[in-house]
Amino acid sequence: MFSDLTEVLEAGLDQPNWQAKSMAALDAFPGLGKTTIGLAFAKHVHNSLIRQYGRFTDSGHERWPVIRVGMMGDTGVKDFNWAMLEFFAHSGRKTGTASTFLSRALDCALSCESRLLLVDDLQFLQFRSAQGTKLSNQFKSIANEFPVMILFIGHELQTKGLYDDPQLAYRITPLELKAFTIDDEAGREQWRNFLLALEQRLVLARKYPGMLADDLSDHLYARCHGHIGSLMTLVRRGCQRAFRTGEERLTVALMSQVKLDRAAEQRRAEWEARLASGANSSRPARRRKRE
Ligand SMILES: Nc1ncnc2c1ncn2[C@@H]1O[C@H](COP(=O)(O)OP(=O)(O)OP(=O)(O)O)[C@@H](O)[C@H]1O
Ligand SMILES: [Mg+2]
Repeated sequence: MFSDLTEVLEAGLDQPNWQAKSMAALDAFPGLGKTTIGLAFAKHVHNSLIRQYGRFTDSGHERWPVIRVGMMGDTGVKDFNWAMLEFFAHSGRKTGTASTFLSRALDCALSCESRLLLVDDLQFLQFRSAQGTKLSNQFKSIANEFPVMILFIGHELQTKGLYDDPQLAYRITPLELKAFTIDDEAGREQWRNFLLALEQRLVLARKYPGMLADDLSDHLYARCHGHIGSLMTLVRRGCQRAFRTGEERLTVALMSQVKLDRAAEQRRAEWEARLASGANSSRPARRRKRE
C-alpha cells in the first residue's frame, strides 16, 4: 500500500501547477486501518520532505508538506475550504465566501509547498446530492490548481457515487485494503508474521515467544476474522485484563472473557466451529507439522 501511494505521489511531484494532479482513493471496510495507513503515509511524506528540503521554503515560509481535512455529515464546499484554512491556522478563516476561502487556501498550499491533501471519512459525503456535486467539482479544481496529490479515504466510495463523474473516474486511482485471510499459505504466513510482530510489542511480565502466534492464533482469528481493528481492540482489552488480574500473559481462557464489538461477535461461533473442525486453520502448514 505504501509503495502504491508513494508511486502516485512521486510521479506527480514535478508536475507543473497547471497540470491536473493525481488522486488516489483508499476504499475499504470500516476498521481495516485506512486512517492509520493514511496518517502513517502522511507522516512519512511530512518527515521525508522536511528532511530533504528543510523546515522553511526558499522564500522563508514554513514548509507544510501535508494538509489533512476530515469530512463530517454536512460538510459543504465552504466548510471544506474553511477546514483547509483552519489547518493552516490562517487569520482569514473567520470571514469570507467559499471562493475567497479557497484562494486563501491555495495561497497557503503554494507558499508552504504542500504536496499531499488527505481527505478522511469521505463516505459522509453524498456525491449524488447537490452538495456532493459541488464538492466533487471542487475536488477537480483543487487537483487542477493546487500543487498536491489528493488522497481520499473512506468506504463504499463507489456506491456513494465518487466515480459517477467521468472526470473523477479517470483521475482517481482506487486502492483497496483487505482483511487478513487464512485461505492460503501466503495469507496464513502473513497473519502469523503480524502476530509475531504484535507479541513483541506487548508489555506483559509473563509473555513468551509464540503466545499469540502459536497458542492464540486460532482463537484470535475466530474472534476477529482477520479484521485488524477488532484484533487490536481484543488484544488491548486482553492486556488490560491480564495486568489487572496479575496473570501477566494472554491465554484462551482469559481472552474468552473479553467482550468485543458486535460485528466481530456475530461471526465468532461460525469461525470457532470452522477452526475446531479442522476445515480451516489460521497457522501455516509448516508450523502445524512440527506438533
Ligand atoms: N497497521 C496497524 N497496526 C496496528 N494497529 C492497527 C493498524 N492498522 C489499524 N490498526 C488499529 O485498528 C483500529 C482501526 O484502525 P483505523 O481507525 O485506521 O481504521 P479505519 O479503516 O480508518 O476505520 P473507519 O472506517 O472506522 O474509519 C485502530 O485502533 C488502530 O489502532
Ligand atoms: Mg478511519
